[in-house]
Amino acid sequence: MIEYSTGMTTSPDAIRHLWTHKTQDHPWLADEALVIDRAEGVWVWTEAGKKLLDGFAGLAVVNVGHGRREIAEAIGEQTVRLAYYPTTRQFSNRPAAELAAKLATLTPGDLEYTMFAVSGSEANERAMQMARHYWLARGKANKHKVISLEGGYHGATMGTFAICGLPHMTAAYADLQPSGFAKVKPPYPFRDRGRGTDAELVERRAGELRQAIEREGPDTVSAVIMEPVISSGGFVMPPIGWLKAVRKICDDLEVLLIADEVITGFGRTGRWFAVEHDGVVPDIMSVAKGITSGYIPLSAAIARRKLADAFPDDATQENVHPNTYAAHPVACAAGLANLKIMEKDNLVANAEAMGARLLDGLQRAVGKNRLIGEVRGRGLMVCAELVAPDGSGPLDPEEVAKLDRKAWDRGAIVYARGQVVRLAPPLCITREEVDQLVDIVAASIEELAAEV
Ligand SMILES: Cc1ncc(COP(=O)(O)O)c(C=O)c1O
Repeated sequence: MIEYSTGMTTSPDAIRHLWTHKTQDHPWLADEALVIDRAEGVWVWTEAGKKLLDGFAGLAVVNVGHGRREIAEAIGEQTVRLAYYPTTRQFSNRPAAELAAKLATLTPGDLEYTMFAVSGSEANERAMQMARHYWLARGKANKHKVISLEGGYHGATMGTFAICGLPHMTAAYADLQPSGFAKVKPPYPFRDRGRGTDAELVERRAGELRQAIEREGPDTVSAVIMEPVISSGGFVMPPIGWLKAVRKICDDLEVLLIADEVITGFGRTGRWFAVEHDGVVPDIMSVAKGITSGYIPLSAAIARRKLADAFPDDATQENVHPNTYAAHPVACAAGLANLKIMEKDNLVANAEAMGARLLDGLQRAVGKNRLIGEVRGRGLMVCAELVAPDGSGPLDPEEVAKLDRKAWDRGAIVYARGQVVRLAPPLCITREEVDQLVDIVAASIEELAAEV
């Protein structure tokens, strides 16, 4: 056990040297009240000693839960054995090779070739670069555009901002981005179903995607990228059937499908990967977060065999350029230890069961509250969408944001932003902990309803 009882705390002056992105999600607290000191399972403790249920697993990252010594030991052992060596210039290392082989068995279909990177943003950069090199190798040099979804988020690099569907995040960089990348609407049943069915909504949106690719010219479109659940855009959960329709359009028009499973991968939605709900195999899948549960940064773009086959083994010209830390041996050792825990503790099945309990519990507790438009979930991605009490539309985001404080005061960290309060706790959460989270969120919503 590491001893933290030094009596020292982080000084406000020191915190000021951390670059902050100024979102002020906790305006009622001084920065020093938000120094997180330690964590175990689904619980975190601030330096000031407040214990909180981590209802968002950090940033939907810590899938196996906090404080897993097995991962720390794997990191320690690998650091002493080989802390770093590049995987450029034909070098490799055992943890990287073993993790790539393990991913080939876990991912659906023939997604069998992994290029590692460090962050989710980079995984998506690599995915788009793989797609581009694939078309170059196939002699289709015009295919370069990447079509994405309104509301979609794929990272904070210039390339991923070009496919970002959240305009407020990218406006500052408009002049630095490639132009001409179309964005299409996802099927958002709560907002757009109207009097029709989910299947009709999927058909309508699929038609719009097909038209967008045709308008751009299929011979200029390299890939379509999308999250199976649109996470930053508000936990939008397209009906099952959507990805199948997208897969068909991509096949018909000879466009690659990239599934961004940075958040949804590794059990989060109650399947190893969220595309499995639809029985779809994308051409490339990008993953991060849950691959190591955040114990150390690692991400990957995983490609189907046909992409790898476009580059013969005796080719000498580089295709996608890896970065310095690609396939970092320590990060890959952490990934292997993390996946071992996921399997040993049956965390994918637990995510499915506990996700159903969380969804059901919230639906029963607040489903009929006048502020709740919809409670929805897929595995351990669950949210409540809030509406104005007179039914005139979404609830004012400033009101929604008050739920962060109400939950904090009751002992949980949740993520209230825009129109939704989002929950994505560690996948190791127990029934009792789910029930605690439901009680806290329900009481917070009820208190808000009494005020609005
Ligand atoms: C779906 C999705 N893709 C990509 C990213 C970017 O990952 P990172 O922040 O590790 O670069 C995120 C981050 O939250 C994400 O949710």
